[in-house]
Amino acid sequence: ETTTANANISSCLLSSHVQNFTLYSSPPSIQYSNLLNFSIQNLCFAGPSIHKPSVLILPKTQHELQSSILCCRSSSLAIRVRSGGHSYEGLSYTAGQHTPFAVIDLMNLNRVWINSGSSTAWAESGATLGEIYYAVARSNRSLAFSAGSCSTVGSGGLISGGGFGFLSRKYGLAADNVLDAVLIDPAGRALDRKAMGEDVFWAIRGGGGGSWGAVYAWKLRLVPVPDPVTLCSINRPGSIRQVAELTHKWQYVAPNLPDEFYLSTYIQGSTSGNLTNSFSGLFLGPNGTAIRILRQRFPELAVSESECSEMSWIESAAQLANINSVSDLLNRKPRAKSYFKAKSDYVRAPIPMDGLITAIDLLSKQPKAYVIFDPYGGEMGRIASGDLPFPHRGGNLYGIQYMIEWKKGEDGMAYVAWIRRLYGYMGRFVSKNPRAAYVNYVDLDLGTIEWTTGSGGSWDAVGVARAWGEPYFLGNYDRLVRAKTEIDPDNVFRNEQSIPPLPKEG
Ligand code: FDA
Repeated sequence: ETTTANANISSCLLSSHVQNFTLYSSPPSIQYSNLLNFSIQNLCFAGPSIHKPSVLILPKTQHELQSSILCCRSSSLAIRVRSGGHSYEGLSYTAGQHTPFAVIDLMNLNRVWINSGSSTAWAESGATLGEIYYAVARSNRSLAFSAGSCSTVGSGGLISGGGFGFLSRKYGLAADNVLDAVLIDPAGRALDRKAMGEDVFWAIRGGGGGSWGAVYAWKLRLVPVPDPVTLCSINRPGSIRQVAELTHKWQYVAPNLPDEFYLSTYIQGSTSGNLTNSFSGLFLGPNGTAIRILRQRFPELAVSESECSEMSWIESAAQLANINSVSDLLNRKPRAKSYFKAKSDYVRAPIPMDGLITAIDLLSKQPKAYVIFDPYGGEMGRIASGDLPFPHRGGNLYGIQYMIEWKKGEDGMAYVAWIRRLYGYMGRFVSKNPRAAYVNYVDLDLGTIEWTTGSGGSWDAVGVARAWGEPYFLGNYDRLVRAKTEIDPDNVFRNEQSIPPLPKEG
């Protein structure tokens, strides 16, 4: 069966002049394994027990991407589009056990063209954030792009789900700064904003990757940044109570700082007793002003001059990505890989001190887990919830990311159960009805669909998908279903948590 499918897809690709592909064989070739594993960030989805794609296709041009989609369809292969491979649940390179599928990997579609005069850029969607940041800064040190912190994340997945980062309090999400895009639809057509229409253009900017087609490229709005900016890196290891006190105050300070100031906090247990508690701050202005604001608004942090330093925006982007040099932003290979499980929440009212103490006490006993609190407010609060599919805007103080990481051979199920318990405890303090989540921190605990046919048959897929559609998109879910029905009524682009189309009439 594999041999026939392999022959079909090979001959289709070759006759369409797509030469860059590698077929699965048993055992897989080294080339196949290297390519498949290259950008897998979560090792939970890399092992031999995971069902593998029949073929890896690496288009080099928009036209090859279009042909790749058509060949997968004519060979009855389900399609997974991969940009940076950072999906928390491996959705860009896995499929159900019985689903023959192809991975269309966009790593060679990573060109970025900057138009400094109009402060815009076109980026192919296989470009990583690091590649985009590097290209922007090289053309003009006073321009930046508002997106995420990790440089190896792909713009394809990140922008598809929103894209929050250290410039978002000032300039919104990556998706808020998309002016146009080229989407390859299920029929292989290349549609720009005008051709896809406003509903679909709305959906692809935050409605989650993998549901709408393959984005070939994004037109981005670049934003002004001062040169220099100030980066603060403040470590305050402490006891459970000390960390709880700083976190408690942080909740009142960080979401209300001037838009130019982003200050996140990170908490992790450690075997040495004291917890790690670090604050990352980016201020779009001089050092002196940053220190003055922090001392005024957050005296308990007792920031010292040496904890903040001035640098160019691109240097701050490299440091926030935890890499040593600006040129390393161009390195697409994830530096550290691990086995992990993550979950997310949104907080609309400060968590009381005793709640924080209990949560931090739990964390103190599990050094493999950590939480990151990302401040909202600023521009995030001024954009209306329905402007884009990403709905977590006004009224949200901050987002929480819970993460637990482990190594090969360790009991992953126990760690997953642990993070679920922490999440369970936090339920009383966070957004409710529904409990909101961030689609880019994709979490299959919210529910899944195992598609057997494209449309899902007669059962109520739209009702089933509400289980994650509403946490991720709140009141925007039904509009996403309508956009899906418009662009992909046969549900060609799907995964375990995609947006389903409405059933066909008759
Ligand atoms: P990947 O290639 O795995 O794709 C993710 C999903 O999008 C899949 O469903 C895939 O099919 C689909 N997709 C990818 N390219 C597509 C395209 N061109 N067209 C259509 N669909 C496409 N988030 C954030 O907002 N801010 C942050 O700072 C970070 N930081 C961060 C750090 C690290 C280490 C990780 C692992 C993750 C993050 N994230 C994040 C989360 C990140 O935004 C999320 O994992 C993205 O989906 C990753 O996009 P990739 O293209 O890398 O993933």
